[in-house]
Amino acid sequence: MEFLKDIALPQSAEHIQLLHYMLILILFLFIPFVSAIFGGTVLSVFYKKKEKIDLDENCRKFSQDIIELVTVNKKAGFILGLVPLLTAILIFSQLFQSSENSNLVYLGISFLLFVIAFNFIYDYRNSFNYLNNVDLNSGKIGVVFLFFALWFFSAGMSVAVFYDNWKPEGIFSSLFSSIVIIRFLFLLVSAFAITGGAILFGLFYLDGGKANLDKNYGEFAKWKALKITFTATILLPLLFFANLVIIPGSSLSGGVFAYIIIGLFLLFLAYNFLYVIFVRFSSKFTALLFFSLLFMVLTIIISDQLVISNSTKVSSAILAVHYEELLADLKGEGGPVELSGEEIYQIRCVACHKFDVKLVGPPHNEVVPKYFGNENQLTAYIRNPSKIDPNYPPMPNPGLRPREAKAVAEYVLEQVKKNVEKQ
Ligand code: HEC
Repeated sequence: MEFLKDIALPQSAEHIQLLHYMLILILFLFIPFVSAIFGGTVLSVFYKKKEKIDLDENCRKFSQDIIELVTVNKKAGFILGLVPLLTAILIFSQLFQSSENSNLVYLGISFLLFVIAFNFIYDYRNSFNYLNNVDLNSGKIGVVFLFFALWFFSAGMSVAVFYDNWKPEGIFSSLFSSIVIIRFLFLLVSAFAITGGAILFGLFYLDGGKANLDKNYGEFAKWKALKITFTATILLPLLFFANLVIIPGSSLSGGVFAYIIIGLFLLFLAYNFLYVIFVRFSSKFTALLFFSLLFMVLTIIISDQLVISNSTKVSSAILAVHYEELLADLKGEGGPVELSGEEIYQIRCVACHKFDVKLVGPPHNEVVPKYFGNENQLTAYIRNPSKIDPNYPPMPNPGLRPREAKAVAEYVLEQVKKNVEKQ
């Protein structure tokens, strides 16, 4: 995924803000859609199998209604599922261009898994057109791929949300870290809540409530969907809480809390609507239930974005500085944020270096004279340090741009010359 970073350009502060808003919109399309596809396919496959065992006509109908509802139509998966994810990957590659971070790798893997999963799931869906020849295996394989796609998606999002505080290394420790597991569970349980809400809404409200036509089937579908929604929503507060606990303190802000509280409030509304549907069925409430669950997911997405922008403040600031420099370069000026060699040195080098004594690195007065009259070589070294003295650890690359490295090299040489002359 490195190539994505290579094509990324530095962003202005406003642009970064805009990218965060775009991510919210895109994820608001993507997450409810893939959630419903996942929950819907699992349920559809489940009832299709049950039909074979119980020989129950209602199960057959339910299974078909669900899969047709959640997949929307024969092609929607590619527009609502794959395009948003691809766009999200591009946005993340912009936001994280200045850092090493495995977010893009995990999202890339999840994208491939989604492509495969959608192919199987749409095969399964379309096979319902041939009444007695439903391709149950495609459904099952699709569920498995989708499960892993969502898992990798959770890992990718977790890396983004936790950013600076991300500790697990390697795919396995990431996938099995408590953070990813908790967020993945959250996603799965919300998926069933959304699916249940979507079934109630889709079968009893849309199309004038087609499930009401057949009383027997209507009752069957209503109770099953209520049970699914109820079980999932009852588990959600627990996961809300777990999800909040794992957010690092430094990334919490008033806004994050506010959205979590709105989310819980929407969940509370959903309970009320569920209750009303339970005691006194009314199709209007299925719509309210569905939308309160949908907007609850939106609050989670927004609070995630706030955490991301909190935890990437520093790197966003660096991006914005690079952007100003790029702009200045394009205009052919020095640029408003040009730092002098001394200033850069104070920011980037003093942690490890002193002129006269050893710190993390060697004292400049001892090792720099060999660069007298050879400024370019020193600039090259600063831009890309190589291993020199076995008594020291290697110097990390300070990540300076050519002009900055040159300014620092000039500054260091000048200082060392002065110091050496004094002796
Ligand atoms: C994280 C610590 C660290 C930072 C930050 C750091 N250095 Fe170093 N530097 C080292 C270490 C360690 C060495 C010794 C490396 C070796 O000998 O292989 C070194 C070596 C050097 C050398 C000697 C190279 C030689 O030929 O022996 C120079 C010059 C130098 N650093 C300049 C800089 C400048 C300029 C900056 C700021 C832009 C900087 N360093 C930032 C740790 C650091």
